[in-house]
Amino acid sequence: MSKQPFIVFGIFAALCLLVLPFFALGKEGDQGAAVVQVEPRDQDAKQLFADNCGACHTLAAAGTDGVVGPDLDALLVTSGANSAEQYDGIYSRVITAVSCGLGGRMPKDIVLGEEAKEVASFVAAYAGQIGKGATVDTATAEQPDPRPCQPTSG
Ligand code: HEC
Repeated sequence: MSKQPFIVFGIFAALCLLVLPFFALGKEGDQGAAVVQVEPRDQDAKQLFADNCGACHTLAAAGTDGVVGPDLDALLVTSGANSAEQYDGIYSRVITAVSCGLGGRMPKDIVLGEEAKEVASFVAAYAGQIGKGATVDTATAEQPDPRPCQPTSG
């Protein structure tokens, strides 16, 4: 019987041993690049998002990759980069979605009161900030109450 298949397999196995760690390391590097610098004061809000929103939404700052709802890094930051000037607008869009629901597909009141404001502030400060940090200091940024919900047809 020829030994050739064994030699070929041996070379293949050796290549795998060399190449696999290479990929593993490469992947770690990628994740490092996707990290958002979350301040210690925002860790609670990050956890609130991960627990209550992350199953449906992708948000890099919270490390979530839900696909039921839109990717909030992409949806909320349309001009290519987030900024302090966009905070108020994004905050009100998020607090409205959270307190009123949307399209019959996003449930309303998943988080309430102060927690809803905390989550909205977190999303507004960190959406789209991949490889960066918060656009505003969430300890001092405005966190207004949600406006009354518009009546919906469904
Ligand atoms: C059960 C899945 C689900 C959960 C949980 C969920 N969402 Fe959503 N969300 C959706 C879907 C689906 C949409 C898109 C609705 C549409 O466009 O009709 C959406 C839309 C949004 C939008 C876009 C609003 C806009 O103006 O376009 C924001 C912001 C948002 N969600 C934030 C949150 C936050 C913050 C939480 C956690 C408190 C959360 N969502 C929890 C499913 C979810």
